Amino acid sequence: MVTSRTHAITLIPGDGIGPEVSAAVVRIVEAAGAATEVGFEWHRFAAGAEAFERFGEYIPQALYRSIEENKVALKGPVTTPVGGGFSSINVTLRQKFELFANFRPVKNLPGLKTRYPGIDLVIVRENTEDLYAGLEHEIVPGVVQSLKIITEKASTRIAEFAFAYARKHGRKKIHAIHKANIMKLSDGLFLRCCRGVAVTYPEVTYAEHIVDNTCMQLVMNPYQYDILLTENLYGDILSDLCSAFVGGLGLVPGANLGTECAIFEAVHGSAPDIAGKDLANPTALLQSAVLMLHHIQEKETAERIQAALEKVYEDGKVLTKDVGGTSGTTAFGDAVIAAMESV
Ligand code: NAI
Repeated sequence: MVTSRTHAITLIPGDGIGPEVSAAVVRIVEAAGAATEVGFEWHRFAAGAEAFERFGEYIPQALYRSIEENKVALKGPVTTPVGGGFSSINVTLRQKFELFANFRPVKNLPGLKTRYPGIDLVIVRENTEDLYAGLEHEIVPGVVQSLKIITEKASTRIAEFAFAYARKHGRKKIHAIHKANIMKLSDGLFLRCCRGVAVTYPEVTYAEHIVDNTCMQLVMNPYQYDILLTENLYGDILSDLCSAFVGGLGLVPGANLGTECAIFEAVHGSAPDIAGKDLANPTALLQSAVLMLHHIQEKETAERIQAALEKVYEDGKVLTKDVGGTSGTTAFGDAVIAAMESV
């Protein structure tokens, strides 16, 4: 293959449906790269339970080094044990590389009938602190404390990210989502930081909604929102809710962005209920790869994939079960590759 550029990308296939969706996405990215003369060198790493079994570490040191060197990673989901066991690999990586901005665009794909047509909103979630700092301890048997950390630095940084994104992309409105009526100090600080940044972007309308009301407002009328700017926990929950507007977790991509490195991953988890059955929809990870390609300035390759993906949805013939189709992960990947010939 003739390539004018080659990118080294750290690849974490993950577990559950991770290996299946990653395999489909790598094939599609390779095919698009071949057509646009862009090469990819995939540096593969296990993480989580699989890595512990093989190397005695949940996150191998070599994986940290690879992300440090390559600056860009594509990551499948990694299972986190519930109520005990090792800490989330996802949260650990985000904290380690200070990937402070979790960026999640929620947009309909053409041709796919969903509960709400014409959705186009963005969730900007603070990614390094809040209750996800993982500071928990048992005070006495039967009493446990979880510490919610909110800092001026991280809150201002994420607000600045959201407003700068709005300005650059012509977005009109930002809602800061909070619970400062109850958590007056922590969420109060978050809001003060958002307000401080908002006044420096007069062209962007700024509003504040309480998170529980936001859930109701979203389901009643999601069109009132443009960018949701929020803390870590609320952002996590709202992301899954918003994914349902456009067809579910199989579709919505994400980027974890820092100043040095970036890790691109879908909103969804490892989906153990459908793992290993060729049922998973690779669209969410594929759209994460498209975000990654834009990030590394490979616009043509990104647009080629997005156009092929949209064509497959418009045709509606080869779709996975979660969006009403009967095809498997592999067949869907084949269809996207075939569609590239005609875009
Ligand atoms: P999940 O996102 O894995 O699954 C929720 C539901 O959505 C399931 O019914 C699943 O089948 C469906 N689904 C998810 N992705 C899909 C896809 N690509 N195609 C078709 N259907 C899909 O959430 P759950 O079950 O709460 O979490 C499972 C595990 O994943 C947990 O250990 C959790 O900690 C982990 N997780 C990991 C994440 C990551 O690595 N970034 C993010 C979220 C959860």
